[in-house]
Amino acid sequence: MIRLLLALVLAATAATATGASAQPLLDWTEEEVRSIGRHGPWPPPPVRDPSNRVSGTPSGILLGEHLFNEPRLSGNGKMSCATCHQAGRDWSDGLARAQGVVELDRRTPSLWNVGYSHWFGWDGAGDSLWAQSIRPLLDAREMNGGTERVGTLLRNDRALACGYEKAFGRKPGNDDELLLVDTAKALAAFQATFVSPRTPFDDFRDALLAGDRGAAARYPMSAQRGLRLFIGNASCNACHFGPRFTNGEFGDIGIPFFVRPGEVDSGRLGGLTRLAESPFSLLGKFNDDATGENARRTRHVRRLHTNFGEFRVPGLRQVGRGGPYMHNGSVATLEDVVKHYSEVNPDRLHSDGVPLVRPLALSPDQSADLVAFLRSLDADVPPRPAAPPLCP
Ligand code: HEC
Ligand code: HEC
Repeated sequence: MIRLLLALVLAATAATATGASAQPLLDWTEEEVRSIGRHGPWPPPPVRDPSNRVSGTPSGILLGEHLFNEPRLSGNGKMSCATCHQAGRDWSDGLARAQGVVELDRRTPSLWNVGYSHWFGWDGAGDSLWAQSIRPLLDAREMNGGTERVGTLLRNDRALACGYEKAFGRKPGNDDELLLVDTAKALAAFQATFVSPRTPFDDFRDALLAGDRGAAARYPMSAQRGLRLFIGNASCNACHFGPRFTNGEFGDIGIPFFVRPGEVDSGRLGGLTRLAESPFSLLGKFNDDATGENARRTRHVRRLHTNFGEFRVPGLRQVGRGGPYMHNGSVATLEDVVKHYSEVNPDRLHSDGVPLVRPLALSPDQSADLVAFLRSLDADVPPRPAAPPLCP
């Protein structure tokens, strides 16, 4: 018996010494493997947005990168998109609530993989990436830029005017509103290139699907157990579904929606009102898709009272590198997020029908496993080289 134990210890030491992992693999059922497969492939195939004429074009993307870092688009000349969406901070800012001209009510979301969404903002007030990019330019509490400022800058700055002509095939004209929309379309083309790197989870998924047990067993046991919970008993994938770990829709998980005493953030409900009122939605004249096919979602969406207090399901790639969490930054760490799902008060949820969220009452080990899984969705990001000049 003692000899057997010794042999086991030696085998384990040898495995560590050679770098080969002796970690076992959970017994994954076929159904589980299928479910895991739906969280890929990664990276996903590139998308083109038919509502945006410069989507996917190198000249549009380059112009967008310069505009993204351009503080002259703001009222005080000091704030750019990159002030809040920082490349070195996974396109967010690390704050609980964004700091614009004043402190805002919501957290700056990461922009990783944003080109694959169909609703934008925590409340879904935007139905295209470019429409969503107009909002901070005009919002008095954010960049407070104004339509005229954007037009004047594009016309008068030699490099931007030249970059604009390359991207749109015409010189910046006198229609300030059109220049505002085109600015947003270039910004969107740039942001759609933000695709997060492959992660340990992606290597595991591919190995599992390929039947490569050796490679799959390199994925830590705790992450495997956490993944099993995620797609199993905890049903996290009911909402955090697909390659980006979001179904792109909205949900209520019981995060308080009071902004300050007596004032609420109505979430999706208010977002749908704003969407209906926006001249920049896909139903408006700036949609570059003449068929109007891509406006189907916008045309059919209905405003329901259950939309009150719903917020967009965030994607979970790179989630461990971010935080604080939730639309209002009210949850500090991933451990606290898991605690929230473990202890959530069902009375706080106002969903119709079968509730998707219920208190999970996880053990400390289960909670740690779930966190280990979430952290396996993170990958290091190489520093970004500076943008090449617009018109050398
Ligand atoms: C003051 C900080 C701040 C600045 C500056 C800022 N943003 Fe944001 N951004 C936010 C916040 C906060 C939200 C969430 C908005 C909401 O849901 O109400 C957001 C949301 C977004 C989204 C939606 C992301 C998603 O997943 O739905 C996009 C896209 C975006 N911003 C792009 C931009 C662009 C482009 C600029 C520059 C023109 C910009 N932002 C400037 C703070 C900022
Ligand atoms: C009913 C749909 C739903 C289910 C089920 C669900 N989530 Fe969420 N999740 C959301 C929504 C919606 C938010 C954002 C809520 C907000 O900001 O108010 C969120 C936020 C999060 C966040 C914070 C991300 C960020 O960037 O702020 C994490 C992490 C997370 N969920 C993990 C999980 C895990 C783990 C499970 C399973 C235990 C789970 N979720 C189950 C809908 C869901």
